[in-house]
Amino acid sequence: MQTEQAATRAFGERLPLATQYAQILTTVGVERGLIGPREVDRIWDRHVLNCVVVQELIEIGADVVDVGSGAGLPGIPLAIARPDLRVTLVEPLLRRATFLEETISLLGLDVTVHRGRAEEGTTHVAVGEADVVVSRAVAPLGKLMGWCLPLARVDGRVLALKGRSAAEEIDRDRSSIARVGGGSLVVRECGVGLLTQATTVVEAVRVAGGRRRR
Ligand SMILES: C[S@@+](CC[C@H](N)C(=O)[O-])C[C@H]1O[C@@H](n2cnc3c(N)ncnc32)[C@H](O)[C@@H]1O
Repeated sequence: MQTEQAATRAFGERLPLATQYAQILTTVGVERGLIGPREVDRIWDRHVLNCVVVQELIEIGADVVDVGSGAGLPGIPLAIARPDLRVTLVEPLLRRATFLEETISLLGLDVTVHRGRAEEGTTHVAVGEADVVVSRAVAPLGKLMGWCLPLARVDGRVLALKGRSAAEEIDRDRSSIARVGGGSLVVRECGVGLLTQATTVVEAVRVAGGRRRR
C-alpha cells in the first residue's frame, strides 16, 4: 500500500496531526539531533507508520507507558491515532524530555512526559499499573523486560518493537525474562497489508512475582 493511503488508514481523521508531528520530527527533531538527517525521507515508513500500527494490539482506554521515548516514538503516534489511550512518555535525557513537552503542547495532546529512567520506578510513572508498556530501540530484550515488566499490572503486557532479531532475542533471554515476571512471550506482526514491511513486536504478559532489575 502507498504511504499516503497507509497513513490515512492508520490515523483516520487525525491525519493532519500526524502530518504536523512528522513535520516537527523532520525540522526541529533534526536540528536538535533527535532524528538523523538520513531519516527525513523515510520518516513515515520507518518511524511514524512503523510505530502507529502497534495500536492493533492495544485495547480501548488502555493506560500506556512508552519507555525510552526519544523523539516520541512510539508513544506520540499512538496518542495521535488513539485519543482513547492514556499515554505517558518516559525519557531520562533533559534535551529529549524538553522536545517531548514542546511537541505535545504544539500538537495539543493530553500526554504526560516523565523525565527519568524506567528502572527508577518513581511514583510519577505508576509502578505496576500500566495496562501496556511499549518500547522501541532502547535495550536488548532481557534488559528491556527487566525495566518494563515491573511497570505493567499483573496480566498487563509489554510490547517491544524489535525487528528481525525478535526470535533470536527471545531464545537468548527467555529465562532472565521469566525471572523478572514475563509469563508468555509471543512474536506478533503489526501492519500486515498496510506496510511494505510489517512491524515485529515481542509481546510479554506480566505475571505475579518477578524481581525488579536495575
Ligand atoms: C535509540 S533511542 C530510541 C528512541 C525512540 N524509542 C525511537 O524508537 O526512536 C533510545 C532512548 O532510550 C532512552 N533510554 C535509555 N535508557 C533508558 C532507561 N533506562 N529508561 C528510559 N529510557 C531510557 C534514551 O535516552 C533514548 O532516548
